[in-house]
Amino acid sequence: MCGIVGYIGQEQAAGILLDGLSRLEYRGYDSAGIAVISDGKLTIRRAQGKLSKLREMIHSQSPEGKIGIGHTRWATHGRPSETNAHPHRYGKVTVVHNGIIENFSELREALIKKGHHFSSETDTEIIAHLVDEELGPKTPTLTAFRRALHRLKGSFAVALLHEFEPDTLYVARSGSPLVLGLGEGENFVASDVPALLPYTKRVLFLEDGEVAVLSRKNIEIETLDGKKVQREAKTITWTLAMAEKAGYKHFMLKEIFEQPRALADTLRGHLDLVKSNVHGDGSGEIFKTKADLEKIDKVYIVACGTSWHAALVGKYFLESNLKTLVMVEQASEFRYRDPILDKNTLVIAISQSGETADTLTAIRNAKAKGAKVLSIVNVVDSSIARESDGVLYTYTGPEIGVAATKTFTAQIAALHLVGLLLGRKKGSYKKDEAEKFLHELLEVPGKIDEILKQAESIREIALKYAHSEDCLFIGRGPQFPIALEGALKLKEISYLHAEGYPAGELKHGPIALIDQGSPVVAIALQDDYYEKMMSNIQEVLSRQASVVVLATEGDRKISSLAADVIYLPRMHPFLTPILAAVPMQLIAYYIADHRGHDVDQPRNLAKSVTVE
Ligand code: F6R
Repeated sequence: MCGIVGYIGQEQAAGILLDGLSRLEYRGYDSAGIAVISDGKLTIRRAQGKLSKLREMIHSQSPEGKIGIGHTRWATHGRPSETNAHPHRYGKVTVVHNGIIENFSELREALIKKGHHFSSETDTEIIAHLVDEELGPKTPTLTAFRRALHRLKGSFAVALLHEFEPDTLYVARSGSPLVLGLGEGENFVASDVPALLPYTKRVLFLEDGEVAVLSRKNIEIETLDGKKVQREAKTITWTLAMAEKAGYKHFMLKEIFEQPRALADTLRGHLDLVKSNVHGDGSGEIFKTKADLEKIDKVYIVACGTSWHAALVGKYFLESNLKTLVMVEQASEFRYRDPILDKNTLVIAISQSGETADTLTAIRNAKAKGAKVLSIVNVVDSSIARESDGVLYTYTGPEIGVAATKTFTAQIAALHLVGLLLGRKKGSYKKDEAEKFLHELLEVPGKIDEILKQAESIREIALKYAHSEDCLFIGRGPQFPIALEGALKLKEISYLHAEGYPAGELKHGPIALIDQGSPVVAIALQDDYYEKMMSNIQEVLSRQASVVVLATEGDRKISSLAADVIYLPRMHPFLTPILAAVPMQLIAYYIADHRGHDVDQPRNLAKSVTVE
């Protein structure tokens, strides 16, 4: 997730672009840059690090120009650096981009064969090369732009400048957002509304598969195939604070709703890798040969908190497809033990921030003993990513709410990709089965969307329990970690006492807690554990608990048993934990909000725990 801005008008563009970028910093902040045109000359300024670095640079020497584009980056392809910062230029063409170009390796190789030289590691630079290649004496920029976009697979929002066209700004989108702002003698473009609000409230939302051409007086929209599009402008009534959260009350809620996009990007960003065509972020390179991988006799997954819950879910899939022992450990315990680690051990570290001190120390200890380390990280080039032998990034964009949501489900999806990648390489996962599973994995974002459509009824259910003081979450198999995660979410933002338990353990102690009206959230999907879960639900019901059940859509039996049922789409049992996580997040969110807590910054918690 990155932020794009563009301006064409009567004012100096640099200040307006910087101001817009500052309102989009929540979309990414590892580097930033702008490009402006004046007197037939295009000037680019870029800086690694937060926007303040770019601001300092521009403050000392502001480039002139009344048309420009800007970008704040959250790295995907290519580490955060000045050379990978946008804008990217090739020939007469300069672009900024948000999204992931899936076929970038193939396009890049083809361009290199034709003699193109690349100055960055990004997928974005490809776009400038392709448009420049399509330009010709009889081919106008718009045609070249459209032709180049037709060659891209993946998601993009792009803003483009042609060095010799100081009166035109080109933009396009497919899968990544772009909104156009209408002014008097000036027009704007941005990834999101907050960047536009200080300048105009009249906007046009660009749709997927559309290109727009902005001049000072006019905006023309057409499809990628050149058909004109007529669209009415809308007037935005949001305040700036509302707009930053896209109209959601809290970042956490926004991030819960972002999950279809976050998962789609994480999956799409690694598809080539899984098909073993390229080495993506480097994770394919840890094991150069099948023989290297066969030597691995055990796998440890180490992580903390929510990331540890993702690890627990991943164990089921990995063990089943690698046919290797997989152990999951809390990094804060693992680092102080003396685990059996050697060159035949693979350690998978999972961390949103990539800076968690316990996880970082755990991988340092593991490496010192010769183990190979593969990490699943959200923040590109963070310490854990840098110190691992290989890394597979979750492309969720920055997570601002302290409680992890979109990164959790993306971590599970990433673990599935690791399982597919290594299982295929080792030959322990049959090709046709792996392909079938991958196909279903790609359907997960759409299924999450279906669950999010039930948010209002989930809220109604959650609010019935908002005044309780404790809550028990139960599940079995790969749903047990989701019970743990449901309890953790509720604890950390609503300050209620909550426990997650494997349902089979109820009779060994926790059932003593059950009394009339005790809330129990049970995950009872139609999988191998269904009958056992039904018995556990009967057990707590007979002690007069109030049960909320997460069930498989179409399960009529469950509705006669429990008053509150949340239905989840039917999917492969290894994939349903991702789906079950979503109602858990919503339940915690609605209860915490109802109780009036600061959901995004719960007491005593920090987003990144860099101390022991
Ligand atoms: C809970 C939460 C924490 C983190 C934990 C690990 O919502 O966010 O439990 O999961 O502190 O952090 P990372 O993943 O950054 O290593």
